[in-house]
Amino acid sequence: MPVAAPEPPLHPVPPIVRTIAALRAAVAGWHADGARVALVPTMGALHAGHVALIAAARKIADRVVASIFVNPAQFGPGEDLARYPRTEAADAAALVSAGCDLLYAPTEGVMYPAGFATSVHAGELANRLCGAARPGHFDGVATVVAKLLIQAMPDVALFGEKDWQQLAVIRRLVRDLDLPVTIAGVPIVRDADGLALSSRNAYLSVAERRQALALPQALATARAAMLAGVPVADACRAASDAMQAAGFQKVDYVALVDGDLEPLAAITVPGRLLAAAWLSSTRLIDNLAVG
Ligand code: PAJ
Repeated sequence: MPVAAPEPPLHPVPPIVRTIAALRAAVAGWHADGARVALVPTMGALHAGHVALIAAARKIADRVVASIFVNPAQFGPGEDLARYPRTEAADAAALVSAGCDLLYAPTEGVMYPAGFATSVHAGELANRLCGAARPGHFDGVATVVAKLLIQAMPDVALFGEKDWQQLAVIRRLVRDLDLPVTIAGVPIVRDADGLALSSRNAYLSVAERRQALALPQALATARAAMLAGVPVADACRAASDAMQAAGFQKVDYVALVDGDLEPLAAITVPGRLLAAAWLSSTRLIDNLAVG
C-alpha cells in the first residue's frame, strides 16, 4: 500500500531552536553570509505590538530572530508567573506571518541550569517607578536580556517603548557591560480605542477592559494640562484621581521624567509621562511623550 505523504502543518512555523548551540549555529551561518541579524526578545502571548517589533526588525536587518521565554527571574513572589499566558503554537504562526526567520524558545533548564548563581544588578535606574513597586524585577530583566544577547549575538536588538523604563535599563545595561549590540526602541502599538496592547490585557474582564481606557485618557489629559501651564505635580495628581474615579483600585505612580528617568518638576526638556495602575489583580502601564 502506498504510504501517504505527511500532512503539511496547518500553520507554517519558523524553525524553532531550543538550545544555545543551535541558536548560535544559525546566527553564525547568517553572519558568515554577511547578513545583519536582529533579535526581538519576548515572553510570548504575541500581539500586534510584538509584531510591530518584528516588522521594524525586518526593516533594519536581513534576518530576524524572536525569542520566547517567560522569565521567572523578573516575576516577584505573588506576581502572575503561573498564570502568564503561554501560547507557543499560535505565537509561532504569528511570527511566520510577520517575517521572522527563527524562533528561539529555550527551556528554563537552558536559561537557568542547576547551579545558576550570577545575575546582573541593574542599579539605581531599576529602583524607581515600576522598580519601587516590583523589587528585583529589573535585575531579572537585565539578567535575562544580557543572557539572550550573549546567546544570540545579534547586531541589533529591538524593544518596545511601551516598557519605557525597561528600555532605559537595557540601554544602560548594554552601555555599562560593553555589549556589542545596537538597541532600537519601537513606538507603542495601541488598540483602536487607544489602550496600549499588552499580553496582560488578556486578564481583563469586559468591564475592566472598558475601565482600562481611563489610563491612556488620563495621561493625554495630563499632558494637555501640563502643556497649557498646569504645574506638573497637579496634572499628575489629577491623572491619578481620574484613574481611580474610573475604577482603578490603586495607582502606583504617575510621573514626568527626563531621558535618565529623573523626575521633572516642569517641562524644561522633552519628557516622558509614565503611569502604572491596578485594575483588580492586573497591573497596567503606559506612557507618552511630553514636549
Ligand atoms: P514582553 O512583555 O513579551 O514584551 C516583549 C517586547 O514587546 C518588549 O520589548 C515590549 O516593550 C514590547 N511590547 C509589548 N507591548 C507593546 C506595544 N503595545 N507596543 C510596542 N511594543 C510592545 O518585555 C518583555 O516581554 C520582557 O521583559 C523581556 C524584554 C522579553 C525580557 O524577559
